[in-house]
Amino acid sequence: MIYGIGTDICDVRRIRASLARHGDRFARKILSDAEFATWQARSARWPERGIRYLATRFSAKEAFSKAIGLGMVMPMTWRLCEISNLASGKPAIVLYGGLKDWFEGKGLSVHVSVTDETDYAASFCVVESLDKTSL
Ligand SMILES: CC(C)(COP(=O)(O)OP(=O)(O)OC[C@H]1O[C@@H](n2cnc3c(N)ncnc32)[C@H](O)[C@@H]1OP(=O)(O)O)[C@@H](O)C(=O)NCCC(=O)NCCS
Repeated sequence: MIYGIGTDICDVRRIRASLARHGDRFARKILSDAEFATWQARSARWPERGIRYLATRFSAKEAFSKAIGLGMVMPMTWRLCEISNLASGKPAIVLYGGLKDWFEGKGLSVHVSVTDETDYAASFCVVESLDKTSL
């Protein structure tokens, strides 16, 4: 059964401005180590691709934080929630540390979808529960 849903829209121009102001420090705050490596590789090839990557990750993490009903409140933190891609390109969420423990302890699973256009990135998340007692 559905435990929660979450959505978020992110203004790519704000991400671009934050990166211009704070540089790598901003990306480090939002991205997990694996995401940061991907961000660096994409940015090196084409800076705009790096900005869009960061914007979709930002929106997906916010959407996830809403789907679990916490918002950006412990144990939900930016870097413990990673948006990776399967070989097919489909996004998948990988959790770490206390967030992973909390999520698995409740018997939850998650589906995520992301998209972006010129000025916006958006995401949608569905969290499922197999265990009725966790609701
Ligand atoms: C959820 C959150 C990440 C969204 O922040 P944002 O990007 O600034 O705002 P957005 O426009 O994307 O989303 C706002 C909407 O998120 C929803 N939302 C807020 N808290 C939420 C939560 N814990 N779970 C799920 N959805 C939540 C609300 O519908 C809100 O809109 P509304 O107030 O008009 O109903 C952020 O508000 C947050 O971390 N909230 C929890 C911590 C907090 O501040 N709690 C205050 C309790 S009084």
